[in-house]
Amino acid sequence: MLAYLAWRRKRRWAVPAEALLTDLAAAAADHVVVTGDLTNLALPAEFAASRDWLAALGPPDQVTVVPGNHDATVAVPWERGAGVWQAWMTDAAGEPGAPLFPFLRRRSPLAVIGLSSAVPTPPGSARGWLGAAQLTRLPALLDAAAREGLFRVLLVHHPPFVGPGGRRKALSDREGLRAVLARHGAELVLHGHHHRTLSGELPGPSGPIPVLGAPQALAGGGAQPGWSLLRIARDGPGWRVEVTERVPDPVSGAFRDGQHRTLRLAAARPAQGVVRPAAGQLSSGA
Ligand SMILES: [Fe+2]
Repeated sequence: MLAYLAWRRKRRWAVPAEALLTDLAAAAADHVVVTGDLTNLALPAEFAASRDWLAALGPPDQVTVVPGNHDATVAVPWERGAGVWQAWMTDAAGEPGAPLFPFLRRRSPLAVIGLSSAVPTPPGSARGWLGAAQLTRLPALLDAAAREGLFRVLLVHHPPFVGPGGRRKALSDREGLRAVLARHGAELVLHGHHHRTLSGELPGPSGPIPVLGAPQALAGGGAQPGWSLLRIARDGPGWRVEVTERVPDPVSGAFRDGQHRTLRLAAARPAQGVVRPAAGQLSSGA
């Protein structure tokens, strides 16, 4: 009930979904990533609707999603909750009951690695938690993708640091994730949760790891909605990432370019048997 009242107060739809879908289609990204939340109250009807929303974004092999804390507001059976998104989360058929997270999807030159920080929380809290099992499995995925020379994009709803809203909205085991990243690296971390464009960095084994927060894609309530277009290309032994924010015009609702920046990243270490892939594009939204 508290989540419902907060939604009524702050988050009703503000951007026409059609405008967003039109802009995404025009960008023709190779892959779309969604960093949650997709629901407000984690109701089964919302999960069914959000599955249709993911289908509108693209087929499961071209769209990847990770859940957010709103998607775990109340405990919902997996098959009626975030489980309806499973085709957009993993390529593996998997053993029945096998852990889904972290998952790895190879979309050369990208390796899209997804974590779930979505856990039910008491009223007033919006914290996230990964748990030891995910953090224990994550290094092997990062190392495998590095050996293949892939650009490792790590998706996690909560950022690996304390953001706006303080500790009650933060990832509880952020230090554990930072330790894994410091040792095993990633080329990029994308998160959602704070409904606004954020950028930071974390130390990695071959240089700083950019951490980008996606704005809210559709909901209103203060922060500027939008999405980010990332153009990722080889740059010598490393990578270049062009980040362009796409923001809706407040009058017409049509999307246009917002801020633009260029990131240059060193090659991952170790990089045995490096593959030289073609350029790729990625879009992200929360
Ligand atoms: Fe969130």
